Amino acid sequence: MYMKTLRPYVIIFVTQTIDGRISIRGKRTLLSSERDLARMHYLRRNVDAIMIGARTVIVDDPILIPRPLNNVAKTPIRVVIDGRLSIPLDAKILDARVSTTIVFTSTRNKNTAKAREIAARNVLLEYIEPIDDENHLDLCKVLEVLKDKYKVSRLLVQGGGRLIGELVERKLFDEMIISITPKIIGKNGVPVIDREIQGIIDLNLSSVQIDHVSGEVVLVYRAI
Ligand SMILES: NC(=O)c1ccc[n+]([C@@H]2O[C@H](COP(=O)([O-])OP(=O)(O)OC[C@H]3O[C@@H](n4cnc5c(N)ncnc54)[C@H](OP(=O)(O)O)[C@@H]3O)[C@@H](O)[C@H]2O)c1
Repeated sequence: MYMKTLRPYVIIFVTQTIDGRISIRGKRTLLSSERDLARMHYLRRNVDAIMIGARTVIVDDPILIPRPLNNVAKTPIRVVIDGRLSIPLDAKILDARVSTTIVFTSTRNKNTAKAREIAARNVLLEYIEPIDDENHLDLCKVLEVLKDKYKVSRLLVQGGGRLIGELVERKLFDEMIISITPKIIGKNGVPVIDREIQGIIDLNLSSVQIDHVSGEVVLVYRAI
């Protein structure tokens, strides 16, 4: 088991439909109400960094900053996990004038033209030795670098299903906040946990809020 002190406190926040989908596959999908977005931005204002997977950058192209930006003591660092370095160069998250961005990628991408182009935008690249031929990165190492080198104590993870799935399976999280929106997507949606899990992951339910205005149910779980 990975020592908790070696990594940041990890909060996963996700908005899902009642059938456990987080978007239509390959399509930017607005699931959150204004009130849900306000809850999300409150969380963003209270962390040191926000992390997403490469597919979320490709599909959603988020800026990933708290709104409103005034009254935010320090804009959180934006973190992308992109083993293959596949995010597009015109992604909004690569605009380092807005906030610091760190892209974690495989050491195999060192000195590539794409890596140079990304670095030229003042985006920080962190190279991790891949654990397989698919340029998969060990998320323990990623979290360790965030804590040790970038002093990230609280990290918010905002999807997608593959990144969340791996963090959950490896128990690399402390809190999971699931906002259930009264919508259904069905089989062409991305599941909140897009991964095979060995066995069952147990969680402790710590609070339930029902937003009677938007119809959302917000569940807060703690990792056991
Ligand atoms: N409703 C919500 O709250 C919410 C929030 C965020 C996103 N979303 C939705 O989620 C969808 C994207 O989710 P997704 O599951 O397809 O993708 P994802 O989790 O955003 O990104 C997965 C990709 O990131 C890279 N990656 C993740 N972990 C890695 C690791 N350990 N090592 C190396 N690379 C790693 C891999 O890229 P490679 O395959 O290139 O190696 C992987 O395919 C989008 O449709 C978006 O709209 C919804």
